[in-house]
Amino acid sequence: MNSRNYILFYLNGERQQVADASAGLMLSEYLRKIKNLPGTKIVCAEGDCGACSVLRLFSLQSGKNKDLFLPINSCISTVSQMDGSVLVTVEALAAPKVIHDKFSCHENAMGLTAVQKAMVQCHGSQCGFCTPGFVIALTGLVEKKLKDRNPQATLTSQEVKNQLTGNLCRCTGYQPIIEAGTSIQLKKCETVGTRFLKRDQQQDLLKHLKIPILLKTDGFKFFAPTHIKQAATYFQKNKSVQIMAAATDLGVVHNKRKLQLANILSLHLIPELYDIKKISPGRISVGARVTLSELRNFTKTSIPEFSKFLDLFASPQIKNLATLVGNVATASPIADTPPFLLIMNTIVEISGPKGLRSIALEDFFVSYRKTVLQPQEIITALHFDIPKKNEILALYKVSQRKDMDISAVNFAARFSWSNNTKTKIKSVQIAIGGVAATTLRLRKTEQCILAKPYHTETVNEALHYLHAEIAPYSDLRGSNTFRRVIAENLLQKFFREKVL
Ligand code: FES
Ligand code: FES
Repeated sequence: MNSRNYILFYLNGERQQVADASAGLMLSEYLRKIKNLPGTKIVCAEGDCGACSVLRLFSLQSGKNKDLFLPINSCISTVSQMDGSVLVTVEALAAPKVIHDKFSCHENAMGLTAVQKAMVQCHGSQCGFCTPGFVIALTGLVEKKLKDRNPQATLTSQEVKNQLTGNLCRCTGYQPIIEAGTSIQLKKCETVGTRFLKRDQQQDLLKHLKIPILLKTDGFKFFAPTHIKQAATYFQKNKSVQIMAAATDLGVVHNKRKLQLANILSLHLIPELYDIKKISPGRISVGARVTLSELRNFTKTSIPEFSKFLDLFASPQIKNLATLVGNVATASPIADTPPFLLIMNTIVEISGPKGLRSIALEDFFVSYRKTVLQPQEIITALHFDIPKKNEILALYKVSQRKDMDISAVNFAARFSWSNNTKTKIKSVQIAIGGVAATTLRLRKTEQCILAKPYHTETVNEALHYLHAEIAPYSDLRGSNTFRRVIAENLLQKFFREKVL
């Protein structure tokens, strides 16, 4: 097998060929310590504050959105993951301009981008520590808006707030920063690609994306196959290998619990894992490398409730990295997407030494953070339903904060009426997270609701069954009693909002 022994990406227009142990570093450390680019800050080191944000174009790997630069958290991304990407840090945004005036010839702030100027004019910065992260996040939003067919004149305050859910500032206060965002005149902005997307560089990357990587240095081994079969073979010979997809979990564990990322298998060179498509009029298939941002866009019209629900899932920076498959693979009972996926009859497609196999998501979760996945198996895709026209969806998440928080309890329901008079429920599926060791499908509660005329007694009976089906635990996010009450309230909310 032909392979290369280096990671390749472009950083602020310069080619980076990394063949040593720095491939195993977190990107933020690489930028600051190796490349001397300290504009990218490290504060929380777990993807929560946005100070480490950088812009990344990784569509060459996925073959989609050809020239969209999106913000990501560099503190939880490894250098090796950047293979095939084009990166831009805050240092490179301003294009220095030489100004000739009657007194002198100098570089001045005229080179600042429209976003940077807006931050200056609206007093969006005090100590400045968070500012590079805000500038990068806002630039990512401007970038997205410039690609719209009918670009707006300015950003709305809600768009700015949504974009900045992953950026924390402890001294300016957010109002001036939001004002900076809404004051930007989109017509005066240029896309990041105008300066940082060069044809010869793209071709260089595309050529390399067809070649597997086998990189061995002191204490770091990295393998990236171009076919899923190569991954299975490698697995059989290297038992202790860790699969790396987005690493939004692995990166945090590495930073906070000193997990060594010493032997990594990356799936980023396998093209079919980037597929997201309708496989029949009523089903969607989402590959293992599809990010939550892509999924959010893809489901905007076919499943608008789910697309909107994803706004409550982490920050834009995380969603530009994290995958739906990763959210399932962690098997956390409070992961945000499994309740929705359970009511959508999701099938997990798995590749292993014996080939492909499929399993219903309901049978995939075994116990707390445990799945049926065997050590040498990889999830390649998830297939799930698109709700029919006559079906109604309810997706709820309860957490201490609205944005950027982990669920205490999350809830999903899907139902349809048996006739136009809306007196009997024909089909119903309910799933709930945070009230047992795994996300649960509430089959007995569903059974109790089914084919019954709707009235208060049906709700009370359903609550009775719900009570018996869940087994909440206590932790930092809530006691078992709290979780039980929330679960019951969410079921009642579902009835009141959707069924009544
Ligand atoms: Fe806080 Fe990266 S340092 S998100
Ligand atoms: Fe000081 Fe935001 S300006 S942390």
